[in-house]
Amino acid sequence: MQEIRTQLSEDLTAATTSQDVEAVRVRYLGRKGEITLLRKNADFSAMSAEEKKRFGQQFNELKRFAEQQVAAAQARQTGTAPAPPSIDMTLPGLNNHLGHLHPISLVQLELEEIFQSLGFMILDGYHVETDFYNFESLNIPRDHPARDMQDTYWLKNGLLLRTHTSANQVRALEHYGAPVRAVFPGRCFRNEAIDPSHENTFYQLEGLMVDREISVANLIAVMRTVLTAVFHREVTVRLRPGYFPFVEPGFELDIQCLICAGEGCSTCKKSGWIELLPCGLVHPRVLEFGQVDPDRYSGFAFGLGLTRLAMMKYNIPDIRLLNSGDLRFCEQFPAAV
Ligand code: PHE
Repeated sequence: MQEIRTQLSEDLTAATTSQDVEAVRVRYLGRKGEITLLRKNADFSAMSAEEKKRFGQQFNELKRFAEQQVAAAQARQTGTAPAPPSIDMTLPGLNNHLGHLHPISLVQLELEEIFQSLGFMILDGYHVETDFYNFESLNIPRDHPARDMQDTYWLKNGLLLRTHTSANQVRALEHYGAPVRAVFPGRCFRNEAIDPSHENTFYQLEGLMVDREISVANLIAVMRTVLTAVFHREVTVRLRPGYFPFVEPGFELDIQCLICAGEGCSTCKKSGWIELLPCGLVHPRVLEFGQVDPDRYSGFAFGLGLTRLAMMKYNIPDIRLLNSGDLRFCEQFPAAV
């Protein structure tokens, strides 16, 4: 829209006759004019209510601006208005780069709001963790092969950079006891070979719900509610078996592909399903580590990859863009929330 605005001003400045101005009017405001088409071609079904509102506001403003400018130019050509000033005061200032939130923060804040509406607390944790909270208390003892799946940055003093937000599970159980409902968003670290889909620094959002008689049905219900809210449409989920020492049973949760509705397309690699998050029922040993009695309480946990979700939601093709600090990338996202 900014480009159209600039171009329109330039075209009007270049117009030297009343016919020129009329031609500019048709080019932008006519039935097939650029501004008219902007609304006709907009894909409202892909926009959230907030995006629609913002689009509407910006569109109306642009249209009003164009109509005023054309009328003023027409008046100048017919001699009813003074000559234009030698500077164009309608051009945007040079310093209009407002800061805004990173796409991962945008997704995180949206999820936090949804989980809060379901009664979950938002908790913070530590980037530097102990072996106990990151591994031991999650039923991953010192020589367990599951440690190999998470190539860990160890510090010289025996602490480590947390490899997953699951490190907060036992911390939360110890602190709050049962029942508890919490999500822990945050940054995690693994010694990955960096490529378009792997980073050594990435974001997860962990969820934990422990109460009387929590079952897989509760897990599915909460996930479906949350995912439907995130993607702004009904989402179909399925569970496949997955192995994580701290959940039993453990699952990989898939969603039916939103692009092809399960038909099979390139995004879902023709399977109709997209792998979204690992989850499961909290292992009794984890509850015990958190001083919660597994005979009285049960719970579910899930580990949502915030980085992955942001990439899916905003169609970001390369994970390295996210930590690049490259303004050309960052500036493509909405200016405010
Ligand atoms: N912490 C696991 C990982 O990062 C994901 C997970 C979380 C699995 C919660 C099950 C339950 O790989």
